[in-house]
Amino acid sequence: MRRKIVAGNWKMNTTLNDGLRLAGEVKEDAEKGLPEGVSLIVAPPFTHLTGIREILADSIGLSAQNCATDDSGAFTGEVSAKMIASTGAEYVIIGHSERRLFFRESDKELNKKVKIALANDLTPIFCCGENLHEREKGIYKEVVRNQIELGFTGLNEDDFRKIIIAYEPVWAIGTGKTATPEQAQDMHSFIRDLVKKLYNSDTASTTSILYGGSCKPSNAREIFENSDVDGGLIGGASLNADDFLAIARSF
Ligand code: 13P
Repeated sequence: MRRKIVAGNWKMNTTLNDGLRLAGEVKEDAEKGLPEGVSLIVAPPFTHLTGIREILADSIGLSAQNCATDDSGAFTGEVSAKMIASTGAEYVIIGHSERRLFFRESDKELNKKVKIALANDLTPIFCCGENLHEREKGIYKEVVRNQIELGFTGLNEDDFRKIIIAYEPVWAIGTGKTATPEQAQDMHSFIRDLVKKLYNSDTASTTSILYGGSCKPSNAREIFENSDVDGGLIGGASLNADDFLAIARSF
């Protein structure tokens, strides 16, 4: 069985006080109950990790949104996987399209980040997805295949089994335009097949693949119903505890 996960990527939103309040609301609402087998993860900004770890129950996972390619050194402004792990966080988002686009993160760097995260016992939530131009040109599967093959280069099966994948079509992020359930299922099953080719069918069947891109309470159910969709990576809607929990309860 693979895990069902609903993760909230807060991006660069909330002051520390607002973030602590939001985490408290998420915790309180989650305690009212979640569908069986569904886990929650929140990914606040770095500055909030320590404070939020104290607020969240152990049952809610804590994630950073990025990590450095090295453990320590003269890299002004960077935050390492080792530092993230020392806050009590268990996950780190790697390769979000905003990092790839605005911060020019290359596949090679992302591969390094995946490896350093694993070396520090963090679970990478690895993002992939095509932009609108690539979708319209019909090359979206090649784009995602490349991102996955390059992002996981050199990872053995044991390490790969710790990975969570998030398929986030760039054209659906923050645009209000969600992938149709058919488009999501098509890409998720393509990714699972690729994992099967790179590793084996047992590994493929246990890899959680989340969907991200304008996922909200009104459309989560039809997306999560697909056999290869194991949950969501939620942006905007995760900034409201009611909406975030309503999405988690869509399973
Ligand atoms: P939105 O849910 O705001 O479209 O963002 C999705 C996302 O980028 C999550 O990582």
